[in-house]
This record gives sequence, C-alpha cells and structure tokens, in this order.
Amino acid sequence: MNKAAIAIDGPSGAGKSTISKLIAKAFGFTYVDTGAIYRTVGVYAYRNGIDPKNAVEVERALADINIEIKHEKAMQRLYLNGEDVTDAIREHIISQYASDVSAIPAVRAFLLDMQRGFALRDNVIMDGRDIGTVVLPDAKIKIFLTATDEDRARRRYEELLLKGQDVSFEKVLADMRLRDEQDSSRAVAPLVPASDAIMVDTTGNTLEQSVELLKEIISARLGE
Ligand code: DC
Repeated sequence: MNKAAIAIDGPSGAGKSTISKLIAKAFGFTYVDTGAIYRTVGVYAYRNGIDPKNAVEVERALADINIEIKHEKAMQRLYLNGEDVTDAIREHIISQYASDVSAIPAVRAFLLDMQRGFALRDNVIMDGRDIGTVVLPDAKIKIFLTATDEDRARRRYEELLLKGQDVSFEKVLADMRLRDEQDSSRAVAPLVPASDAIMVDTTGNTLEQSVELLKEIISARLGE
C-alpha cells in the first residue's frame, strides 16, 4: 500500500520542525527532520577539522560517516558512528557547517536514499529544504512555510537562549540571512517551493494558530 507523505519545506525559523512535530502527533505520522541529518554530517566535519566547503575533503570523509536515526517516544535521535549527537547538532556553529556541506552534491546523494527509505516504511511528515522538489516529489501534500526574516530570527534566537547558548539577536539574524542565501542559491536542490506547494506565511502567528491552519489544510487534502 502506498504511504501518505507530507512535505514541509522552507527557510530556517519558519516553524517547520515545531509545527511538524505537533502535526505528526495529531495525525499519527512519523516525523522526520532532514536538517538534522545534514547537521550530523556538519558535526563530523567540525570535529575532524574538515573544511565544510571543501567538496573533495568532505566527499572523502563520507566513507567514514555512519548515520542512524532512531525514533524514540516520537523524538528523533541522531547517531553518528554510534554516538548520540542529538544535542551536539543543535550548536549554533553547526548550522553553518550543515548549510556548507549540504551544497555538496555527493553529500545530498549520500543522504537521499536514507530519507526516501522512511517514506517507504511509514506515513511521514518530513521537513527540510527540498522535500517537495527532490526527496518526495510525489508527496500527497506539500507545504512551503515562510515568515519574515525578523520573525524567523526571533524564534531561532529564543530557542538558542532556552538552550543556554550565548549569541546575540543580531548575530542570529545575520547568520540566518547568510544561510538562507546560501541554501537558496546553491546549484543542487536549492531551497525553492515546489510548483504544487501550498504557500503558508506564519509571520505574526502564534504556534497554535500555525498548527491549526496546517491541520485544516492537511485534513482537507487527506480527505480528498
Ligand atoms: O533545517 P535546519 O536548519 O536544521 O537545516 C540545516 C541545514 O541543512 C540548512 O541550512 C540546509 C541543509 N538542509 C538541506 O540542504 N536540505 C534539507 N532537506 C534539510 C536541510
């Protein structure tokens, strides 16, 4: 039987992961955060002194990288060569490493089957940058989430503060703009809405409002 897939794409801080987690719970889908997988490659590069923009070095390192994803109590945990890196991938510096390695075609190819495998096994709600365009082009529902730069940076900043990380709002905003620009302009699988994606702007919404809005869109589409 074909599984139902929901693709949620968009820039960082638009609320993709928080909203997707709640939607997954409401509809009984498995949530897959694909940014976390790129972040795991980023952690490997960071820890091993590999220049994340050097395609040759990063590609060579892929042979030494084993990534496992385990879903425990609806939480996704990431393992890098057997070590739980679920917290390490959230360090602010790793965001840029993840964006850098994600522009390398060999990295994207390396992670593609892993991502598609989830959608073969389970009904998934998967969030990322290229889910509706590349990873799951046949997804039943595609949503592209956006919000203004300031709104997105504020959310990311508050998340980092809650985790006790020492960064300023200005740095988060500047780093986020750089990363968006990089993710949108890369040659392979850039961040662009799929032609059949539903565009949703979450600017000014509370989390509850965004979740309700997406639930309505998804319920209507799943019922079709
Ligand atoms: O969603 P995130 O901020 O955790 O993702 C980190 C980086 O990974 C992001 O800057 C670009 C990259 N990424 C990607 O290229 N494709 C995806 N499907 C998900 C993330």
